[in-house]
Amino acid sequence: MYLRGDDFREPKGQMSQSHRELTSRDLCIIVYNSNHILMSRYLFSRTAAVVGAVAASSFATYTLTRAHLQSNLPSDWFPNESTTKLHSISTPQYATPSQLQHAIRELRDVLGDTNVVNTPVVLEYHTRNEFNPHEPKPHEKPKYVIYPRSTNDVSEAMAILNRYRVPVVPFSGGTSLEGHFYSTREGIVMDTSKMDQVLAINSEDLDVQVQAGVNWVRLNEQLAPHQLMIGSDCGPDGLISGMINTNASGINASKYGAMISNVISLTVVLPDGKIVRTKQRPRKSSSGYSLTQLFVGSEGTLGIVTEATLKLHPIPRYETVIVGQFPTLLDSTKTVSQLYRAGVHPNAIELLDRDMMHCINYSGYFTQEWAEVPTLFFKVGGMSKAMVDEQVKVLKEISVKNNCKDFIAAKSEEEGKELFSARKNAFYAILNYGRNEIDPDIRLWVTDIAVPLSKLPPVLDQIYAMIRESGFQSVILAHAGDANFHCDVFYKDHEKDKCESLINKMMDLGLVNEGTASGEHGIGNGKRTFLIQELGQDAVDLMRRIKLAVDPNRILNPDKIFKIDPNDKGEF
Ligand SMILES: Cc1cc2nc3c(=O)[nH]c(=O)nc-3n(C[C@H](O)[C@H](O)[C@H](O)COP(=O)(O)OP(=O)(O)OC[C@H]3O[C@@H](n4cnc5c(N)ncnc54)[C@H](O)[C@@H]3O)c2cc1C
Ligand SMILES: *[C@@H]1O[C@H](CO)[C@@H](O)[C@H](O)[C@H]1NC(C)=O
Ligand SMILES: *[C@@H]1O[C@H](CO)[C@@H](O)[C@H](O)[C@H]1NC(C)=O
Ligand SMILES: *[C@@H]1O[C@H](CO)[C@@H](O)[C@H](O)[C@H]1NC(C)=O
Ligand SMILES: *[C@@H]1O[C@H](CO)[C@@H](O)[C@H](O)[C@H]1NC(C)=O
Repeated sequence: MYLRGDDFREPKGQMSQSHRELTSRDLCIIVYNSNHILMSRYLFSRTAAVVGAVAASSFATYTLTRAHLQSNLPSDWFPNESTTKLHSISTPQYATPSQLQHAIRELRDVLGDTNVVNTPVVLEYHTRNEFNPHEPKPHEKPKYVIYPRSTNDVSEAMAILNRYRVPVVPFSGGTSLEGHFYSTREGIVMDTSKMDQVLAINSEDLDVQVQAGVNWVRLNEQLAPHQLMIGSDCGPDGLISGMINTNASGINASKYGAMISNVISLTVVLPDGKIVRTKQRPRKSSSGYSLTQLFVGSEGTLGIVTEATLKLHPIPRYETVIVGQFPTLLDSTKTVSQLYRAGVHPNAIELLDRDMMHCINYSGYFTQEWAEVPTLFFKVGGMSKAMVDEQVKVLKEISVKNNCKDFIAAKSEEEGKELFSARKNAFYAILNYGRNEIDPDIRLWVTDIAVPLSKLPPVLDQIYAMIRESGFQSVILAHAGDANFHCDVFYKDHEKDKCESLINKMMDLGLVNEGTASGEHGIGNGKRTFLIQELGQDAVDLMRRIKLAVDPNRILNPDKIFKIDPNDKGEF
């Protein structure tokens, strides 16, 4: 027999008070020495009928559960400091296999059997994707995957999972690149992809309310008849919830901003099941802490995002594509900064280096044959052709001044699409080249460094020197408007360690140049040491304090962004 959730759900309000009065040590003593005191304390407000209905063996289970769960709270829970250092907390204790089974039974009651799944195919899908250089360890696999359909589902599920201390990894499109959704602990994956309704398109207010599992490409398709679009983009299969949680940006971000500047409000379910709306729907607000932004980029470690209100942008009435080819990288990046200084702000500025242009040329996907030199792809938009032409004129002047040899302006929308498709299909061109010319099983290690714009040329020069020295082949793609570049290094399986040390050297270089190791992909559990290097230990300890304040049981996406367990030795 097992206890149904209702049987030992805590009376709201009172219980959490009494929790706080007890330290973990007290509780262990009480539990082991005096079950009855504990029971009367905890079940005081339950009716005798309920208590009577529960068999003696269940009392034991219940009490042990409590003991196990309570001992999870270290006595130094909130040390007398502003931050929480890793060594000041103890190892988290999570649900035992039998407690997990209890939780699963309760989840089936709430969500229905079809939404609680552990078939091998589903588990495998939620274990890894082919884009991560780091493979999960063999045991890093979810035990179950659950599919909530509404905010209420998520709330009820979290209340159960929190009560049993089951680790919960939120998951949406599964396209993230740094081990973000690896099940480092034995727990469940909460897949929010079935919450995919567009709730309201408020075209006059330029915003849209969505359930968080909407795919951004489909959302843009639904917005197109309104002449509207969202500001950020990412991998084609990414969903809004994942984009919020990685602060995704992509090709359009230099104009429209990363996800953080495109979110007005969020509905978030906290680890204990409470539902929070971070704002109403105003564009402006100075009311209280910025909870919306707290959850953006939090990689599923603080709450489950279930709904979002996003800003919309009008699709430019008129937009054209320009391609400029430059003899050197410095010429191309100087062009970018001078354009900004001149007040021209293209909708997209993408830089492809000579190696990348070689892959594109090699792929034969395009009618055009390209010179294999650093190349900038621009989208220039505006209200009318005249306004766009005016900007293109300045763009051409500045490019030519910076030694641009080929300045290609699309003559039609079709031609523009074709030109830009060279950028859009870059990823496939890279893989095609690597598989044919290097190794059929070639792998790609993607970096994500961003630096201040003026530092881009010297940093890239040093990156090339490192690559030459290493003997690896690579390509560089940059969101040049944001000085965020992906140096993608080809490697074979047996070269992984050597490749990793090259990648680490590159990230060090980005950091000493006032940059970041993660411009848009996030930290996951692949870049945790670089976060400390970038921001310093105190900043990371402050993040840990926030994490523990919101998620004291450390159940949400454990081990991501920073360590939450002093015994975690698991650097990749
Ligand atoms: C081919 C390719 C191209 C890409 N290009 C870009 C690019 O240009 N720009 C860019 O920024 N990224 C890019 N990415 C990376 C990736 O697409 C983004 O990181 C994206 O935001 C991930 O979204 P997702 O839905 O796949 O999230 P997932 O991978 O499912 O999850 C990402 C994170 O969000 C958390 N999460 C998911 N759902 C929820 C929820 N409901 N509540 C709380 N937390 C949640 C997860 O726990 C995880 O930490 C690319 C990836 C690929 C494969
Ligand atoms: C907490 O910090 C204050 C101020 O630094 C100090 O006076 C006090 O002794 C500290 N208390 C404990 C328990 O460490
Ligand atoms: C980016 O913005 C342009 C308009 O500037 C729009 O046409 C396009 O669909 C947006 N998204 C992507 C991924 O390019
Ligand atoms: C999100 O991205 C923007 C632009 O890259 C950056 O300015 C901001 O600090 C990021 N926010 C978070 C929470 O990561
Ligand atoms: C482009 O690629 C083709 C096929 O690989 C090659 O023949 C040609 O010389 C390349 N063009 C340039 C400009 O390098």
